[in-house]
Amino acid sequence: MKAVVVTPGKPGGGRLEEVPDPQPRDGEVLVQVHQVGLDGTDAEIMQGQYGEAPPGDDYLIIGHESLGRVAEATSGAEGLSTGDWVVAIVRRPDPVPCRNCAADEWDMCLNGRYTERGIKGRHGFLAEFYAETPNYLVSVPEEVSDVAVLLEPLSIVEKAVEQIKRIQSRLVWQPERAVVLGAGPIGLLAGMLLRLEGLEVHFYDASEPGLKRDLAEAAGANYIWSGEHKLGHELAAEIGPVDIVLEATGFSPLAFDAMDMVAPNGIVCLTGVSGGTRKLEISADHLNLEMVLSNKVIFGTVNANRRHFESGVRHLQEIESRWPGLLSRMITRRLPLGDIAAAFERSSDHVKSIVQVT
Ligand code: BGC
Ligand code: ZN
Repeated sequence: MKAVVVTPGKPGGGRLEEVPDPQPRDGEVLVQVHQVGLDGTDAEIMQGQYGEAPPGDDYLIIGHESLGRVAEATSGAEGLSTGDWVVAIVRRPDPVPCRNCAADEWDMCLNGRYTERGIKGRHGFLAEFYAETPNYLVSVPEEVSDVAVLLEPLSIVEKAVEQIKRIQSRLVWQPERAVVLGAGPIGLLAGMLLRLEGLEVHFYDASEPGLKRDLAEAAGANYIWSGEHKLGHELAAEIGPVDIVLEATGFSPLAFDAMDMVAPNGIVCLTGVSGGTRKLEISADHLNLEMVLSNKVIFGTVNANRRHFESGVRHLQEIESRWPGLLSRMITRRLPLGDIAAAFERSSDHVKSIVQVT
C-alpha cells in the first residue's frame, strides 16, 4: 500500500512510498483511512526534530489524526462492523505499564516508555490502511463523519478542560471569562468547548483579523490581535477578570504573561509544545508573589485517553448543532496523499490542513 513516511532524525521527510500492507491479527480490524489531519508535531517529525521508528524498521509512517472506516473485522474483533466510521487513539501504554498506564491513563504515563502511533515507536495512519484492536478505536456516528478528522485534536482540549475543572474543584468556582492564546486548531476547539460551557471567550492571536477572527466570532467569542494589544494585566483590566487562560501557541514566554494576567483563584493551562531553547528574563519575585497571594494554578497537559475521545464525539455533535458548518470552515486545506508539501505553508488565513487519503 501507499504511505507517507519519514526517516526519523532526517530533515526534509514526508515521502510517498510503497510499504507492506498491514495484516490484521485475530482480534484486530483493518481500517481504510479516509482523512488524516496534520499538525505541528508532524511538522517537527518531518523536519527530523522528533519522531521514532518502530523497533526493527528504519522508517516511520506519519499521521496521528485519523478518520477511517472498518474494512474488515477478524473473528475476535468485538463491537465493530464493516463500514463503521472510526478514529484511532494515538498513545499506547508502556510494555510494563506504570501505575497510570495500567489504569488506562496512558496520557499520564510516568516513565515515558509509552508509544504513540505516527509519532513515537509505532507506525501512524497516513497510509491507505492500518490494523488496530477495537479498544483503541472510537466509533463515530455518520452525521459527524465529515468533521471527525478533528476528533484527535479535540481530544487534547477535552482533556485540558476536564483537568481544569478537576483541579478547580479545590474551591467554590464560577468561572465567567477565558482567554485562549492562539486561534489555531487547538485554540479554536478549546474556545468552542469553553463557549459550550457558557463562558465569555477571548482569543489572542498573532494573525491579522481575517478568517480566524470570523471563526471566533461565529462561535460567539471575541478576537484580540496581538498587533494591537499586549498580553498582561492591562488587557485583563480592559476585558474584566480572567478565570482561565489556555495557552495553545507553544510560544513559551506567553506562559509567564498568562500567570500575570489570570485573576485570583484562576488557572493557566499550557498545551503548546515548545521544542526550542528560548531563554527569558522574568520578574520571578513578582510572579511568585502573584501565584501565592492569589492562589493561582499553572499546569501542563498532553495527549488524551479514551474517555476524552468519547466526550469529544458528543461535543462534535453539540458544536455542529450549535454552530452548523463552523468545524468544516476550520479545514482550510485539503491535500491529496501524494502531495502534502503545501500542508505547512504559512498564511494568516490558514487554520488546518488535512490529507484526503481515499
Ligand atoms: C498529539 C498527542 C501527542 C503529542 C506529543 C500531539 O501532536 O496530538 O497525541 O501526545 O503530540 O507527542
Ligand atoms: Zn506508563
